[in-house]
Amino acid sequence: MPTVYVTRPLPPPGTDPLREAGLDVRQHARDRPPTGEELLDGVRGADALLCLLTERVDAAVLAAAPRLRIVANLAVGHDNIDIPAATARGVVVTNTPDVLTEATADLTFALLLAAARRLVEGDRLVRSGRWDGWSPTQLLGQPVAGRTLGIVGMGAIGTAVARRARGFGMSVLYHNRNPAPAAAEVAARLVTLDELLRRADVVTLHAPLTDDTRHLIDAAALGRMRPTTVLVNTARGPLVDEAALVAALAAGRLAGAGLDVFEREPAIAEGLAALDNVVLAPHVGSATTQSRGDMVRLACRNVTEVLAGRAPVTPLNPQVLEGRDR
Ligand code: GLV
Repeated sequence: MPTVYVTRPLPPPGTDPLREAGLDVRQHARDRPPTGEELLDGVRGADALLCLLTERVDAAVLAAAPRLRIVANLAVGHDNIDIPAATARGVVVTNTPDVLTEATADLTFALLLAAARRLVEGDRLVRSGRWDGWSPTQLLGQPVAGRTLGIVGMGAIGTAVARRARGFGMSVLYHNRNPAPAAAEVAARLVTLDELLRRADVVTLHAPLTDDTRHLIDAAALGRMRPTTVLVNTARGPLVDEAALVAALAAGRLAGAGLDVFEREPAIAEGLAALDNVVLAPHVGSATTQSRGDMVRLACRNVTEVLAGRAPVTPLNPQVLEGRDR
């Protein structure tokens, strides 16, 4: 019976789809990432690995698992997996796109509005008992409706955010490696990163983390934004130089930020937590019952298909399936 190593307890339906397919499931019991040693022990002898974005699946992990046929990541991002190393070993890698698009776009808009309208500061004030009533000068934020949104990375999530922005009467600029086919549908205009940073009232990040996008938003990029601009990141923390962001926010060179992801999760940059003009979320972009359930079903389906000798639904290195690059 083929064995699947699952690196964490999963939300419903959990591992039921794997067991129903007759697979032998070995699961890390604690709701914490396995240590490096535990991961190596877990994959040894496994035919499939169902892992999370918190696991680094590198050449050493792949080498410890000579029987492995698939790494199914329970995430759309896949910067935690060495895909070329997996491809070289003939191991299929899959992710969970689409099923988390709307949930992540919703959270992006929640952070955008919360940061622009200083919602968490207001919440803290009301709870503190120090609120002494309505004031015309209190907690003035940045307008959103009718303003310009700059989307960096116009994939499925960026496009879903653009759709929401249209509902707010926003003009949408985007920056992407290539023109995005869906841009016309949301009336989004392709511009250089430089122009986007200079013109957008809100900059929101939806690019994957690669060598090219690491610290895309560094001190120089932050310097191009205006003191009224709000930055939102629901993609990957290392897209932003977090220390430079803290400096910009502390100096009032940026109005605010809404962050769901951080450079060194779960740690956050020194000084970030002390700032009033940031809204911080614990990487919960896809955290709705529906989205997480759909992610689990998709990741399990990818595993069961590959172990049954069929193509997975969402392969990242389909050349393995064609027998190339082995
Ligand atoms: C979450 O961050 C994901 O990539 O799915």
